[in-house]
Amino acid sequence: MQAQNLEYTPDVARATETLYHKLEKQYSKDSWKTLAPYIHEINRLKAEKNAVILAHNYMTPDIFFGVGDIVGDSLKLAQEAANTSADIIIQCGVHFMAETSKILCPDKKVIIPDMKAGCSLADSITGEDIRKLKAQHPGIPVVTYVNTSADVKAESDVCCTSGNAVKIINALGKQGHDTVIMTPDKFLAQNVAAQTDVNIIIWDGTCEVHERFSAQDVKDLRVQHKGAVILAHPECPPEVLAESDYSGSTAQMDNYIKDNQPAKAILMTECSMSDNIAANNPNVEMVGTCQMCPHMKRISLPKILKALQEEGPEIEIDPAIADRARQAVERMLELS
Ligand code: 13P
Ligand code: SF4
Repeated sequence: MQAQNLEYTPDVARATETLYHKLEKQYSKDSWKTLAPYIHEINRLKAEKNAVILAHNYMTPDIFFGVGDIVGDSLKLAQEAANTSADIIIQCGVHFMAETSKILCPDKKVIIPDMKAGCSLADSITGEDIRKLKAQHPGIPVVTYVNTSADVKAESDVCCTSGNAVKIINALGKQGHDTVIMTPDKFLAQNVAAQTDVNIIIWDGTCEVHERFSAQDVKDLRVQHKGAVILAHPECPPEVLAESDYSGSTAQMDNYIKDNQPAKAILMTECSMSDNIAANNPNVEMVGTCQMCPHMKRISLPKILKALQEEGPEIEIDPAIADRARQAVERMLELS
């Protein structure tokens, strides 16, 4: 990268002016002068290389609005990865999301700007653990959250996301399964169990971000911010959901705010969600209380630019594992 390409030139200022107006509550003019040249150069290079950027709702606004072509929750990113005609996918999210894209697009170059962007849920279970669970519960289908490695997906019958977990479990119920194994998020499984008649055998994984929220936090927020609508991600403990007004995947929370336009809202989830929703909904006051996902925050504009320039680091999955994992992901997409 030539230094002169990253200067805040009049061309860059013009090209990013509308975006800056949208984000001026989030970024000072000085910080924008540093970010805008990256946004400009990433977008130029993306077009030149026929690359697409899939950005999760937890990306910071400079990435989410500046360079993301497709933005959304894990489900939408997987659905869109399956349909893209781009040659290169740059996954702005964590490693399991990039693996899901690679599973669905084995012939495309799938790149993650930082290979170390992991996830505590994905780290909580291995393929071997699933094999043992299946041996302990023969004939019981395994529903695996997409927040897992390709290895784990390969051993599973069907995947789910927080946006479709109830639907997937109920679909299995209709097929005659009165019990399913659900891995690895215990809180998501407990929250789903409250909404279905199917029995759920639970694994003991947690999201290190959402497990930190407590029912007392919600009660305190209600006192501090009277009238605010409180929304919680289903990776939070059940008692947090019980105190909240609404629960859903990141996309479902986003849609709730868009459709209902509450005067004030609080999200029990990752910090950047509130910033992105605030920029899209100027009439809603988003109360800034949240927890940061250190893995999501590894992704930055400089790393995205480097990844595009170097076309790496690339996600690689053993084709035999990818083929088996694909069946579980495709079954989820069919059932959603
Ligand atoms: P969503 O599927 O709701 O986007 O959640 C992904 C995630 O990692 C939440 O922590
Ligand atoms: Fe994983 Fe939690 Fe971070 Fe989502 S927020 S990527 S579940 S650690």
